[in-house]
Amino acid sequence: MCAGFSPAQAAGGKLVVGFSQIGSESGWRAAETKTAKAEAEKRGIELKISDAQQKQENQIKAVRSFVAQGVDAIFIAPVVATGWDAVLKEAKEAKIPVILLDRQIETKDNSLYLTAVTSDTVHEGRVAGEWLAKKTGGKCPVVELQGTVGSSPAINRKKGFDEVVAKNPGMKIIRTQSGDFTRAKGKEVMESFIKAENGGKGICAVYAHNDDMAVGAIQAIKEAGLKPGTDILVVSIDAVPDIFKAMAEGEANATVELTPNMAGPAYDALIEMKKSGKVPPKWIQTESALFTPDTAKAEYERRKDAY
Ligand code: AHR
Repeated sequence: MCAGFSPAQAAGGKLVVGFSQIGSESGWRAAETKTAKAEAEKRGIELKISDAQQKQENQIKAVRSFVAQGVDAIFIAPVVATGWDAVLKEAKEAKIPVILLDRQIETKDNSLYLTAVTSDTVHEGRVAGEWLAKKTGGKCPVVELQGTVGSSPAINRKKGFDEVVAKNPGMKIIRTQSGDFTRAKGKEVMESFIKAENGGKGICAVYAHNDDMAVGAIQAIKEAGLKPGTDILVVSIDAVPDIFKAMAEGEANATVELTPNMAGPAYDALIEMKKSGKVPPKWIQTESALFTPDTAKAEYERRKDAY
């Protein structure tokens, strides 16, 4: 697919990448955008970012516009997993490689994208679940804040966590609802869970598919007169500075890291393919490490300016 240099590059021009970003629903998302810009600059790449404001239709329009502009590659962070085939076929026909960032898509035709730079999001759910099972001796009524409906991390983070629940008869998801990966929705949904569960007394832990929803939930727990991190355990995914701050203050218990540097490996794969023709693997997997309060203060200091 599309090895070699475009006419603009052969004439000494820059590699041009169009990036259809989902929006800015979370601190992690903002960090991913910031990192994509910084990593592009390091490599002398011209990056054109289009903000889809959480709508797939805007992403499809952006991809079409990048195709019309004749960019060298298109990056997409797909808001939902389905519905991409038609527009990706257009990019393929125009011989423009597409790289998926941080989320996967469902397609029967894997040739529609070059590679996906993502974590194993099922594994992230498992890591969060296993931490909670160990912490509670496998006995815990859990409320779950899901990510955006139809998005690959929401589907997979649920799947991984559910696997652990299935192995621990004393663990049960008593309520589950989408908080759309946002802090405001996370708080709102947590408030309704607390109300429905006897002022929160029936809840052992909240599992949030991202840190922003966890931070919203922490606020809701405090406003209900309970202690987050003690009365209700808080486990989530991303490892953004705000959750480390909450952990250092005793208000959150564990997070699973998702690196915001998805674009760096994608640029490298693209440059390598353009230089030598080497096709990257279909999946470039990023790490998913678990973090707990013991390192929270240091992690907060280390990350606070990078995000
Ligand atoms: O796709 C990655 C997820 O999207 C992150 O966990 C979340 O914070 C973001 O909005």
